[in-house]
Amino acid sequence: MSRKIRIGVVGCGCISGIYLHNMTRLFKEIEVAGVCDLIRERAEKQAAAYGIKRIYKDMYEMYADPSVDLILNITRPYQHYEVTKAALEAGKHVFSEKPLGASFEEGLALVKLAEEKGLMLGGAPDTFMGAGIQTCRRLIDDGYIGRPVAVSAFFLGHGPENWHPDPDFFYQRGGGPMFDMGPYYATTLINLLGGVKSVSAVCGKAFDNRMATCKEHFGENIEVNISTHYSGTLLFESGVIATMAASFDVYSHTHPHIEIYGTEGTLSVPDPNTFGGSPRLWRPEDKAWRDLPLLYPYPENARGLGITDMAKTIAEGGESVRRCRATYRQTLHVLEILCAFQKSSDTGAAYQMTTKYERERPMKAEYAYGILD
Ligand SMILES: NC(=O)c1ccc[n+]([C@@H]2O[C@H](COP(=O)([O-])OP(=O)(O)OC[C@H]3O[C@@H](n4cnc5c(N)ncnc54)[C@H](O)[C@@H]3O)[C@@H](O)[C@H]2O)c1
Repeated sequence: MSRKIRIGVVGCGCISGIYLHNMTRLFKEIEVAGVCDLIRERAEKQAAAYGIKRIYKDMYEMYADPSVDLILNITRPYQHYEVTKAALEAGKHVFSEKPLGASFEEGLALVKLAEEKGLMLGGAPDTFMGAGIQTCRRLIDDGYIGRPVAVSAFFLGHGPENWHPDPDFFYQRGGGPMFDMGPYYATTLINLLGGVKSVSAVCGKAFDNRMATCKEHFGENIEVNISTHYSGTLLFESGVIATMAASFDVYSHTHPHIEIYGTEGTLSVPDPNTFGGSPRLWRPEDKAWRDLPLLYPYPENARGLGITDMAKTIAEGGESVRRCRATYRQTLHVLEILCAFQKSSDTGAAYQMTTKYERERPMKAEYAYGILD
């Protein structure tokens, strides 16, 4: 890599710690130029914790700094559009936390702007680049379950208001289980099985109001302004049929995270919100589940893999030289899938996808830790 790409981080909330830890200690080919937050004390705290020299007054001061190449947008989902748009307008490449925008239209507008400006745009999740999902991809591509025909994918929980210090945004536009956890599932599924053709779904909510039980807002009312239970069927371009549900209305359940059923076996995929886990395989000749070893690096919480991959592409001269794995081609397709659930539910008809998706190359199993291929 010719030079270290300098990254400016917007948002120093809950998820910023693991990003800053990995970007300053694990990944060797990038540099954190500085941080900012609307609440300055948060930026000060993280700058002190991770040895970051520059705290910008606001995102505009960061975007005006010519030494910053790439912006990491880790604000709340409904804030992603404005923060990313302003960065692109200022000529910066952007990696955004999920979702790309709070609506498909926001995502499309950002992609149009990035293309007009010749800038890179991409985003989370990057868990698909970790050891667990990459191992599953290898197993499927090498034929261990034969031809994939069907999928079960479940994220069912009771919402984050018992642990997140600021849980209100999970129940507003851009929040909910499909926008919060759906990206991990949809990104994993398309990485394993290719693009989605159509989505049929029904969505609803069990509670109009919920009570925050985190210590920061204990007892406060949260108005629920979005669906909190999504149930649907995805038809992949390959013909694979997936049953998928995402919920904040379920106390407990015994469904798997993801299972993929093939003509010659079943693959149990680890929690897509993690980088590692234990893939399991069931084949007719075994008539039992087998635990499989991880074949790829990064089994630990390696948040930052995606932006480091993007930084490497920028440093090497762009995508005509080196393809990047977590680009908008992926996050926009994922965003359209997430939005398709509600659109299908509202219209009572299957939603036909307009974006097409092609998988990028897999990770390399041989590696120098903290340096990408
Ligand atoms: N919390 C998690 O465990 C987690 C895990 C994975 C992904 N994420 C994603 O990370 C993103 C952030 O989530 P979070 O939990 O850290 O939220 P948070 O509310 O804890 O933090 C967001 C921060 O962004 C700041 N901010 C908002 N607009 C800003 C602006 N214009 N300029 C500067 N700062 C600004 C806020 O002041 C806040 O401190 C979301 O997209 C979420 O989906 C969160």
